[in-house]
Amino acid sequence: MQISIIGTGYVGLVTGVCLSDIGQHVTCLDINMEKIDKLKQGISPIYEPGLEELIIKNQEKGNLHFTSNPIIGLKNADVVYIAVGTPQGEDGAADLSYIYKAARDIGQNITRDVVVVTKSTVPVGTNYKIRELVLLNLQGNYRVEVVSNPEFLREGSAVHDSFHGDRIVIGADNPEASQIIEEINEPFGIPILKTSIYSAEMIKYAANAFLATKISFINEIANISEKVGSDIVEISKGIGMDSRIGPKFLKAGIGFGGSCFPKDTRALINISEAINHDFHLMKSVVQLNEEQKIKLVNKAKERFGSLEGKHIALLGLAFKPNTDDMRDAPSISISKTLVEEGAKIIAYDPIANKNAKKYLPDCVKYVDQIEDAIKMADIVFILTEWEEIVEKTLYQSKLFMKKPIIFDGRNCYTPEDARKYEVEYVSIGRKPVKPGEIQGIKPTNYSSF
Ligand code: UDX
Repeated sequence: MQISIIGTGYVGLVTGVCLSDIGQHVTCLDINMEKIDKLKQGISPIYEPGLEELIIKNQEKGNLHFTSNPIIGLKNADVVYIAVGTPQGEDGAADLSYIYKAARDIGQNITRDVVVVTKSTVPVGTNYKIRELVLLNLQGNYRVEVVSNPEFLREGSAVHDSFHGDRIVIGADNPEASQIIEEINEPFGIPILKTSIYSAEMIKYAANAFLATKISFINEIANISEKVGSDIVEISKGIGMDSRIGPKFLKAGIGFGGSCFPKDTRALINISEAINHDFHLMKSVVQLNEEQKIKLVNKAKERFGSLEGKHIALLGLAFKPNTDDMRDAPSISISKTLVEEGAKIIAYDPIANKNAKKYLPDCVKYVDQIEDAIKMADIVFILTEWEEIVEKTLYQSKLFMKKPIIFDGRNCYTPEDARKYEVEYVSIGRKPVKPGEIQGIKPTNYSSF
């Protein structure tokens, strides 16, 4: 079985590499020649733990090839995966131009019967349009079947998720095509759910929308907790122990970002609008998330009155740990708002500094060591819970800051930790900790208290 994958972004590259690792013959195709050249040399264009090792291993084995030429990439393919981007268009709808280009390329270049597998997240019904376009562009008399096979990979653990996912969804009308994709995936040993094409397409949106809703829900409970005096970490634990709710995706913080949740929630609202359905719930989820992103700025303003001239260390810029992805990261809204408030920003991320420069205001100063950010800061913001940041921030703030104060957007520490280090600590959905509140320890004489 010859497999071709169109698109070497997070989804396409990880899918192609992992399929080659379970013994399939895979050719990954991308129009970006620079990317393909790097991949041929065994260099991953994205930071994804474990990926580069598998690229090198499977290229050496001869299972994995890269090309930017669609004639070479699609010739002799039995199965072609489409894994190109479906970015958010101006109206919030998914932009399908890359999908349609891929479909035309497939039609023009295949040389035998083919199963086209859509990995990209696409609105319900798109797979049928893909089939039409492939058929329209065919150069010979070949059979074309389509299968919707959405991905559920998390960035930063995409390789792990490929081998240990909860389910593989195969949406198809044609049982033979469905069987082929099932056999390809069998070595992963992950439960397979077979559905219609329409349902598979919707499962992807519904899964992301549900997880985003869980996050906005717990963030809203956190906001209420701050006012009534309850503690969101205890609440998450308390509700998460109910097996009907489950403990995951109940971490309150400064909102979700990344390449999927923001885009897919908006696309789902757009899909609903197209059928005259007002998706109130999803609109609130999105709006709340926008407000949540600048929560720390509002808290800092409340605490200091004005942030004019304050040096603020932003620790962690990527939308979550273990990735350099900056798409829709809360750090973007936070830095822009802080600059408007007249603050001076010193930014640090273990991996994403370079990428961040494309997204954050030009006046942001970047440092390569966490301690350099903390040493220069009047106020520390934790935006991403990288292991290094959690390990070092509390201790180094105590060590290097005159009046240590941390605004933690990811609830990395317990109030007891903050008390122990005598650091002023403001987190999400919990009471702030002020030094001197500890029993038996003399209150620090902070004039602003
Ligand atoms: C997500 C889905 O998990 C994945 O199945 C889908 O295919 C793509 O989108 P990803 O964007 O990589 O994956 O990140 P994920 O780990 O799901 O986190 C998304 C965002 O939610 C991050 O910004 C994270 O910080 C935030 N989050 C997550 C919370 O704020 N609280 C939580 O409890 C969990």
